[in-house]
Amino acid sequence: MIDKLDKETLEAWLDNVSSYAEDGRVADYIPALSKRDPNELAASIYYLDGDCVKAGKVDCCFTLQSISKVLSLALALIDNGEDYVFDRVGMEPTGDPFHSIYRLEQHRPSKPLNPMINAGALAVSDMIRGGSIEEKVGRLLSFLHELTDDHTIQVNEGVADSEYETAFLNRSLLYYLKQHGVIAGDVEETLKVYTHQCSIDVNVQSLSKIGAVFANEGRDLNSGRQIIPKHLARICKTFMVTCGMYDASGSFAIKVGLPAKSGVSGGVMASLNGFGGIAVYGPALDDKGNSVVGLKLLEVLSNRYDLSIF
Ligand code: DON
Repeated sequence: MIDKLDKETLEAWLDNVSSYAEDGRVADYIPALSKRDPNELAASIYYLDGDCVKAGKVDCCFTLQSISKVLSLALALIDNGEDYVFDRVGMEPTGDPFHSIYRLEQHRPSKPLNPMINAGALAVSDMIRGGSIEEKVGRLLSFLHELTDDHTIQVNEGVADSEYETAFLNRSLLYYLKQHGVIAGDVEETLKVYTHQCSIDVNVQSLSKIGAVFANEGRDLNSGRQIIPKHLARICKTFMVTCGMYDASGSFAIKVGLPAKSGVSGGVMASLNGFGGIAVYGPALDDKGNSVVGLKLLEVLSNRYDLSIF
């Protein structure tokens, strides 16, 4: 059993790594994200017994961005089963930037290499069951409400609009996927679902609780009810290890050694079986699109508490 951190210690460690924000830059390719303050930092650890320790600007909301890829994958797997999903999206890391189109050209039949890169995640969004954009996004939101027990979680429509209007690369990826029969639905509708899922607002506490449910093998922390089947939660965590931090997943595995997923808003969610979930928010990003403060704090936590799964 790993000792629990107290709030003062987490505050002190967050404070110690705060200066790393100077080494990163807030994402600006989505205009609404560029307005965020790089020094707004927060962290939360949600233990499996329901205890939660938080530090920094804990009330600050930020959008899930690519962290949503883990959740849309879990829902698409629940909706369609593994065979359907992995017939259309692969399981291999790419070592390429998250929005790269290049590998789609290299393989025949064309198939995104994994669900954590944009091409794969767009294909996964197309698989979420529902007769309309609203129903698909609504089902994803309900799934999040169930995971967090926070029914106030919603889409930040300002970010969603900003993202949809500037999603030129994602639109290109979708047209390519449509041409090659990877997606069944309409391109613009799938783009709407994807940009909405990326624009779901959370705080660090909710995000760490999602990480804790994954760490609890998909079971609700209070009731023990299986929200995500255990084998599907395991698949999601495995992708978090192999591709969750994009083309920095290898160095992250060495330095931190936790299943984790980042987003360009500056959020990072980590999950450790038998321990709980960890969330960090720090909008300044490195050149791969990962939060610099998030990476550093997770490295400190992992080293001090010997959290690596390896
Ligand atoms: O598709 C995009 O570009 C964003 N909505 C999400 C990208 C992202 O978060 C990648 N993260 N590191």
